[in-house]
Amino acid sequence: MRLETVDSTNSYTVSRDNLMLKSGVVVYADNQTKGRGRFDRKWLTVGGGNLFATLVVHPQLPGFLVSLLPVFAGVAVHKTVSDIMGLNCNNERLLLKWPNDILLYGKKLSGILCESRQIQGFMSVAVGIGLNIKGRSYALPLELRKTVSTLESVGVDVERDELLGKMLDIFDEILIEVHGGRYEKFLDYWRNVSWSIGKKVAFDMEGERMCGVIDGLDSKGRLNVLVSESSVVSVSSGEVLYL
Ligand code: BTN
Repeated sequence: MRLETVDSTNSYTVSRDNLMLKSGVVVYADNQTKGRGRFDRKWLTVGGGNLFATLVVHPQLPGFLVSLLPVFAGVAVHKTVSDIMGLNCNNERLLLKWPNDILLYGKKLSGILCESRQIQGFMSVAVGIGLNIKGRSYALPLELRKTVSTLESVGVDVERDELLGKMLDIFDEILIEVHGGRYEKFLDYWRNVSWSIGKKVAFDMEGERMCGVIDGLDSKGRLNVLVSESSVVSVSSGEVLYL
């Protein structure tokens, strides 16, 4: 479903039972006036031609795999953009930052916001994806220039609809594999293109602030954080603060 202007494709979708009830629904908009990011941050619309889309998924998966949907969505976006840019998976240009940012040359290209609701006894997840396609760096507001990237700013010429079509196909394939229990390869994919591994972070655990270095992702998709020479803590959700 294409909308011209909407407050937020996630708000629009999550608030409508008829949309949340249909697995596979895709709501995308040309413009968002109140795009939202994780932790109530804003997701800005700068210029036209960018991707603002929300996909409805009805996962029939164990809880830990449901909580990994943002990671699988991140892998789908990464794979889509890599294919379009003709990158191989060992490149340093396009990386995934835990939990679900896509960085292009170290700047944010795409973000993902998953929101779920129980509806008529099952879980429906709205997977919101924002991706900056158009716009040169110099056209971005000053405060965004150092941290935000677009495909156009690195010379990649692609239209929103083509990118969205590819991404939906790839995400579909990933979801089929994950529902068949074959999810490990996507965790491996994440590990391979991770910006986060080796980074120092702070996080809260049982009311205590802890610091450590990200060491990897375990088989349940939890971050392993090395908090001392011999002690690793698993972090499964919430914010990690990069130091
Ligand atoms: C983040 O980086 O914190 C997540 C950003 C998610 C933005 C997308 S744009 C489409 C969908 N609608 C929203 O309001 N948010 C998501």
